[in-house]
Amino acid sequence: MEIIIQPTPEEATGVAARIIARLLAEKPDAVLGLATGSTPVLLYRELIAMDLDWSHVTTFNLDEYIGIPREHPQSYHSFMTDNLFRHINISPSHIHIPDGNATDIPASCADYEKRIAAAGGIDLQILGIGTDGHIGFNEPTSSLASRTRIKTLTRQTRIDNARFFGSEEDVPHHVVTMGIGTIMEARQNLLLAFGPGKARAIAEAVEGPVTSLNPASVLQMHPTVKVCLDEPAASQLSRADYYRWVYESKPGWQTF
Ligand code: F6R
Repeated sequence: MEIIIQPTPEEATGVAARIIARLLAEKPDAVLGLATGSTPVLLYRELIAMDLDWSHVTTFNLDEYIGIPREHPQSYHSFMTDNLFRHINISPSHIHIPDGNATDIPASCADYEKRIAAAGGIDLQILGIGTDGHIGFNEPTSSLASRTRIKTLTRQTRIDNARFFGSEEDVPHHVVTMGIGTIMEARQNLLLAFGPGKARAIAEAVEGPVTSLNPASVLQMHPTVKVCLDEPAASQLSRADYYRWVYESKPGWQTF
């Protein structure tokens, strides 16, 4: 894992945006895995401002709520349209988001996996992290080998996401999410976390044991993971000075 600690969310996002811009420059038909929630909002704003060419890019989103219509303002379909897709030149046929309204959700999950494989796999997966360590909506105790499927949100995640819906009761109980096994097959993972509320989850994920109790900790087993943090999110890392030193000592050709 490469831990990149920056003073602010804006600076940490800047590093992440440059990593993605470099990938698209090297591979214009890259397959990107996308996340939603508050964390990547700045990143999408930054990518839009960079005016990149998305015409050959394919995207797969991590997750979607079950039981709210696509047009609902808090559906991840709406989130992606509002925060990214309507501002870039991506082809609608290249956009993939799990279908939380499919009549046969298990079949549509299996189809999602097939579509990822048919696209050649995900080159770079963007991830946020829940306060309980979830990635995608793989809550603690999710199988570390799981594939795209239905999950039930924890009480904590519903409390955390009540800020988007107005009240906890309005947050759906169920979601479709890529599995941890699916995420682990991405060629690169790029995890972003900001704010003191993420500090414990990040410290456990980066420096704790690999355990399904903190699903993000499985990323320790992935060969190419970058973790972009602001100072508050990094505040419980015991080796933060080492990570800063490694990043500052990078040769110029390796910096972002
Ligand atoms: C969203 C997702 C989730 C979020 C996580 C953090 O697609 O996969 O894992 O990244 O819940 O959410 P925020 O960024 O709102 O704190």
